[in-house]
Amino acid sequence: MRKKLAAGNWKMNGLSEALSELSGMEEAAKGDAEVLICPPATLVAAAAGAASGIAIGGQDCHAAASGAHTGDISATMLKDVGASYVILGHSERRTDHDEHDEDVRAKCAAAWEAGLSVVLCVGESLDEREASNTLDIIGGQLAGSIPDGATGHNLVVAYEPIWAIGTGKVPTNDQIGEVHDFMRARLEKRFGEGVGRSVRLLYGGSVKPGNASEIFAVSNVDGALVGGASLKASDFVPIIEALN
Ligand code: G3P
Repeated sequence: MRKKLAAGNWKMNGLSEALSELSGMEEAAKGDAEVLICPPATLVAAAAGAASGIAIGGQDCHAAASGAHTGDISATMLKDVGASYVILGHSERRTDHDEHDEDVRAKCAAAWEAGLSVVLCVGESLDEREASNTLDIIGGQLAGSIPDGATGHNLVVAYEPIWAIGTGKVPTNDQIGEVHDFMRARLEKRFGEGVGRSVRLLYGGSVKPGNASEIFAVSNVDGALVGGASLKASDFVPIIEALN
């Protein structure tokens, strides 16, 4: 039985005062679903200290454990200040920082080495979907970005169609189901049925309180990776509750 996961990606949003939103999420986090918030790197340590019953994660890490990499942070550093997860391969990183599957794969290995669980993001562009290449793209990203050694504990996969992120556009339930069933099959084939069935699959892209329940009813959707609607407890709590 996979534990449902409500994950929030705050992206480059949030000053110290934003931590007060965590206390508004704590009651909902006592339910069946696991709750994860990934604040900007500047708030990870404080969030981990402040949040009770909410897991905290980073939004990226370097592939090395330490060294001459100005401006970067390592998985070991995230772990050191109380993070238990890290998001890797988000499309905004792939685009803004020219990250490719091999980079994500190396970061994933580093995160596992440090003892972090990875929320690995995959997703197609609108052009790729319109050219009917969605499953090829997703299959390639899964194969290229995940190192050997995945388990149901160290890996969560988030399907985030790029065209649905921050746009208010959401794929149909059939489109989400097709991709999630495909990802499940690919994970089972590569890592074996036991592991493949235990990895949680999240949907991400314009999830809101008003559409969460419908999305969570789709097969092989084990929760959500939420951007904008995770910034405020008043938006995120109903999404958590839709999973509880
Ligand atoms: O990682 C979450 C994200 O990309 C989705 O963002 O704002 O569409 O929920 P949003």
